[in-house]
Amino acid sequence: MKQKVLVTGGTGYIGSHTIIDLLENGYEVVCADNGINSDTSSLDAIRILTGVDVPYFHIDLCDLKATETIFVQHPDITGIIHFAALKAVGESVEKPILYFRNNLESLINILDMSIKYEVKAFIFSSSCTVYGDVTTSPVDEKTPLQEAASPYGRTKQIGEKIITDSIKNSQVKSILLRYFNPAGAHPSGLLGESPVNPPQNLVPVITETAIGRRASMTVFGTDYPTRDGSCIRDYIHVVDLAKAHTLGLKYIFHDKQESPVDIYNVGIGNGLTVLEIIDAFEKVTGEKLSYQKGPRRPGDVMAIYSDYSKAAANLGWKPSLDVEDIMKTAWVWEKRRSQK
Ligand SMILES: NC(=O)c1ccc[n+]([C@@H]2O[C@H](COP(=O)([O-])OP(=O)(O)OC[C@H]3O[C@@H](n4cnc5c(N)ncnc54)[C@H](O)[C@@H]3O)[C@@H](O)[C@H]2O)c1
Repeated sequence: MKQKVLVTGGTGYIGSHTIIDLLENGYEVVCADNGINSDTSSLDAIRILTGVDVPYFHIDLCDLKATETIFVQHPDITGIIHFAALKAVGESVEKPILYFRNNLESLINILDMSIKYEVKAFIFSSSCTVYGDVTTSPVDEKTPLQEAASPYGRTKQIGEKIITDSIKNSQVKSILLRYFNPAGAHPSGLLGESPVNPPQNLVPVITETAIGRRASMTVFGTDYPTRDGSCIRDYIHVVDLAKAHTLGLKYIFHDKQESPVDIYNVGIGNGLTVLEIIDAFEKVTGEKLSYQKGPRRPGDVMAIYSDYSKAAANLGWKPSLDVEDIMKTAWVWEKRRSQK
């Protein structure tokens, strides 16, 4: 029998790519989202690509009663992948209460339902922001967490603790996936990052600038002690990232996980500077990018990239796509999006 998986935040960027991977791997999917940062056009693309019409609940997961309606209609849900959250680091510095309320209330409600409806597997979208302002990389899962650099990062640190405490005496097993910098789009060109709020992540900012949706862009900080002065990050293709969720579920469903909670880094394992990313974009697309250099931005750490050997060893996950694939697919997607 097919396992039924609830994907929260499923019309969003990483959620929609993960739904495709789940469907391709034989899972049945139910999706929930309140549309605060996405719309249902991603479900149309999923229908075209997989032939599956994914059941959709347009609900705010901060509303416990509304959240329970999903489980009343689908009491046979055995796995949850919880993507739903607000994710803009800068906005979280300006509106911390909004971030604490949205990201933590929704998490508590969905955990409450996971325990009540005897869900077996719970995968959480954590983030490398939990490591805070680290001084050396690569970081592995045992690297001590520093003070979070933003309220957003704090919601992920607290979220990890809430999950650990809440499921301790239940049947739920959980995997916390600490994503590094997801980027790129589906190779079909039908699906990609299409946020309602202006994106703050580097790759969509680059493609939006190149296509003319933004007048120009700023590289925040060019005086860091890195090889060219700009920040270093670990860019992971969203299609590779999606696969980590499916493998994580499989690991739990096959009873391979002994501890209630386990943590995995999901990154490519090396770092590129902001200026190197811009170079890669220009090289792959032949476009010239207009950008200016600006001051450092509050909440940004200088350099962070992953050691993902634990995910490779336990889940059998490793990245297969590189920065050129990221740029190619992100650019195809941006051009398609701008024609709509
Ligand atoms: N994209 C990144 O750079 C990145 C990096 C690390 C971690 N993450 C985490 O991964 C997850 C998915 O990120 P994404 O890039 O796909 O973002 P996204 O904004 O595209 O997707 C999140 C989805 O959650 C929905 N949502 C938010 N609050 C909700 C609520 N209360 N009820 C119902 N739906 C709600 C939004 O409408 C959106 O569709 C988030 O938890 C994010 O914090 C993202």
